[in-house]
Amino acid sequence: MNINTTNELLAVPTGPLQVSDVPPNSVDTDDQDIYFSLIIPTYKERDNIQNVVRILSQTLDEFIPGDYELIVVDDDSPDLTWEVAQSLTEEYPQLRVMRRQQERGLSSAVVRGWQVARGRILGVIDGDLQHPPEVLTQLLTKMSEGADLALASRHVDGGGVSSWSVVRRFLSRGAQVLGLVILPGVLGRVSDPMSGYFMVRRSSIAGATLNPVGYKILLEVIGRGNVRNIGEVGYVFCERQQGESKVTWKQYIDYIHHLVRLRLSTGRVGRVKQRINFPLDRFVRFGLVGLSGVFVDMVLLYLLSDPSTLGLPVTLSKLIAGETAIFNNFLWNDAWTFADVSTRQQEWHQRLKRFVKFNVICLAGLLLNVVVLQLVLNFLIPNRYIANLIAIAVATIWNFWVNLKLSWRVTDVK
Ligand code: GDD
Ligand code: MN
Repeated sequence: MNINTTNELLAVPTGPLQVSDVPPNSVDTDDQDIYFSLIIPTYKERDNIQNVVRILSQTLDEFIPGDYELIVVDDDSPDLTWEVAQSLTEEYPQLRVMRRQQERGLSSAVVRGWQVARGRILGVIDGDLQHPPEVLTQLLTKMSEGADLALASRHVDGGGVSSWSVVRRFLSRGAQVLGLVILPGVLGRVSDPMSGYFMVRRSSIAGATLNPVGYKILLEVIGRGNVRNIGEVGYVFCERQQGESKVTWKQYIDYIHHLVRLRLSTGRVGRVKQRINFPLDRFVRFGLVGLSGVFVDMVLLYLLSDPSTLGLPVTLSKLIAGETAIFNNFLWNDAWTFADVSTRQQEWHQRLKRFVKFNVICLAGLLLNVVVLQLVLNFLIPNRYIANLIAIAVATIWNFWVNLKLSWRVTDVK
């Protein structure tokens, strides 16, 4: 790792994106290692940076006085964020600033920051106050309780987004589901794989060559690092007060590219892990509940539509029968298949939320069922019953896996 020094800003490391297992020898006078290094990646955050530094310093001064550092990594912002940050270092001696002129991108900014960091625990937080600073202390507590990685999550108790549009929520969840399909061994381990607010032990990522495309450095850390215990803390993603988001369509493309690359390079390990971790008994219960749903659906269809009973139109009858079956399945799954999770989240609004998710996922499963049936029938096996069995199997696995990850989430530290 070469270090090229430019004025009193931090030197920008070059070479592979790799964190060493001991903190680097810095040219600074006070060179002792410290507990916690927090990276603040910035691009055009001039109007935020002072508040960010002030609030983070207040929070950490109370919790681990003198045992932390803040590192702003700015990508040569045209609004001169780096200059503003540098002007704060006199008032905040624990603050250091890096101005990158050759390299770009959020993920590599974070790793470059970690490469010069002196802490044993390495963290990252957005520089726009959308990540609430008070969550830091809870994350640090998770680490001291033995987690290798602690992340702030929008998808556990206490988490959420403040006022996202339906479209943005949908895109965010869609990205998560896509990730689960491509890379279940990584994304399946956390409830909010898109989080950019987390911390990790230096020893868990030391030596791994991180190779991040785009925005989601957490995926890289979990995929390539050696992370065993993960802790999660709920947080509400606040609205931006100043400046604007840098997310564009390019980030979605990068994200997919990133998933596929991680999958290819960590694939075998991921698959083995996944096989060992597969919750078989849960899956069997889920399947049995599914059968009970078929029974409910059949009986209701008969009672509603048969000429000898109510004689309602078939489509209407099927809609009522199908939805009742979904409701039946939900009750059994909530009370039995995922009992361990639901007993810890018993409030009625939590149940309602699970039910709505379950419903949407099952409806998507139905759609998948039809698509797979058509595909198999037309291109593989010209027998509609065998094709239907295959379609049902695919939809069941979909229903099970996505519900496991989104509807009944285990949110504790392992
Ligand atoms: N150095 C550097 N280089 N910093 C960047 C770059 C870059 O190319 N792009 C963005 N940043 C900084 C921003 O200045 C901000 O501090 C932080 O990274 C997050 O960027 P935003 O553009 O504000 O992202 P967002 O709020 O839409 O998205 C966030 O939401 C996710 C939750 O879905 C990201 O912060 C994710 O990290 C977070 O997980
Ligand atoms: Mn933001």
